[in-house]
Amino acid sequence: MAYRRQLPYMKPASTCGACFLYIAHDIERIISLLFVTVPMQQAITISSLSKVYDSGLTALHEVDLEIHKGEILALLGPNGAGKTTMISIVCGLVHPTSGSVSVEGYDIVKDFREARSRIGLVPQELHTETFETVWATVSYSRGLFGKKPNPAIVERILRDLSLWDKKDNKILELSGGMKRRVMIAKALSHEPQILFLDEPTAGVDVELRKDMWQLVRRLRDSGVTIILTTHYIEEAEEIADRVGVINKGQLILVDEKSELMRKLGKKQLNVELNDAVDTLPDNLKAYDLDLENEGRRIVYRYDTQAERTGIGSLLADLNRAGVSVKDVSTKQSSLEDIFVSLVGEAP
Ligand SMILES: Nc1ncnc2c1ncn2[C@@H]1O[C@H](COP(=O)(O)OP(=O)(O)OP(=O)(O)O)[C@@H](O)[C@H]1O
Ligand SMILES: [Mg+2]
Repeated sequence: MAYRRQLPYMKPASTCGACFLYIAHDIERIISLLFVTVPMQQAITISSLSKVYDSGLTALHEVDLEIHKGEILALLGPNGAGKTTMISIVCGLVHPTSGSVSVEGYDIVKDFREARSRIGLVPQELHTETFETVWATVSYSRGLFGKKPNPAIVERILRDLSLWDKKDNKILELSGGMKRRVMIAKALSHEPQILFLDEPTAGVDVELRKDMWQLVRRLRDSGVTIILTTHYIEEAEEIADRVGVINKGQLILVDEKSELMRKLGKKQLNVELNDAVDTLPDNLKAYDLDLENEGRRIVYRYDTQAERTGIGSLLADLNRAGVSVKDVSTKQSSLEDIFVSLVGEAP
């Protein structure tokens, strides 16, 4: 009789099959728990927020926005779009006309102290002309939020911001970029979980801007949620997880940066010709083409999402028309192109 020795922990093949099904079922459950049923935690929830200033100007109109815990959200928008107004409302500096904002579940009006203590703000306008030292200013800011003095925390913040060697200098002895860093140090002094940076790199040199990006990433990695406004679109492209676009008081779009580029991005194919042409050959009229560089370049714009880009047939038709191609290259639209078309299109 054929005999197969079984180790005590081995199960017959059929039971193992069932076992596998159970395990597969469990894995499925775990995945669904991880990805489907766990709600995204919100740092800030803004609902139907509007602001009409006394002058009658509507600076914000019915803005809804959820800011996820631990993300870097970049808010883009032209001058006067309403970015600072929105930040000022969340930080309790401006009263909303209607709508509501909650910060980690605390209403910014009813539970102002709880909500505000969770936020650090680096305002757009710097008010730092002071005779105080860097150390005293940052320590004082911590005290304003009722936090006990903690020299170790103040030291870490100043070191992180490369301000340690300036700790005994008066603020008015610092350069503009250093003053901006002092503002960030002040905003971080009470260890907030949410940080608003209203144009943190305006007028800051390239080197310092890159340092700032690194700092923002480090803060995000330590669990801080960061909302920044910027007019440098490459800044949003570089560091943001999500991008929101505000125009004329309305939030016209908010999306993952990569999704935004994927959905709204267009690609352009540049076909450089050996010999200039005056007009496009008849068999190419069906394509969306432009002639540039005095007839030496044909530009074809196509949708990266389309099933067929049409590049293959375009090149074949060019060949059929006897147009001699010297070189081809492609260019992807940047976040800047997307931003300009969004803001330009808005009513
Ligand atoms: N205190 C105020 N009183 C009246 N109107 C105001 C006040 N503050 C801002 N505004 C107006 O509200 C609108 C939005 O201004 P806000 O400062 O929010 O724009 P922003 O998007 O931050 O612009 P920027 O990119 O120039 O900083 C503008 O038209 C501005 O003139
Ligand atoms: Mg502003």
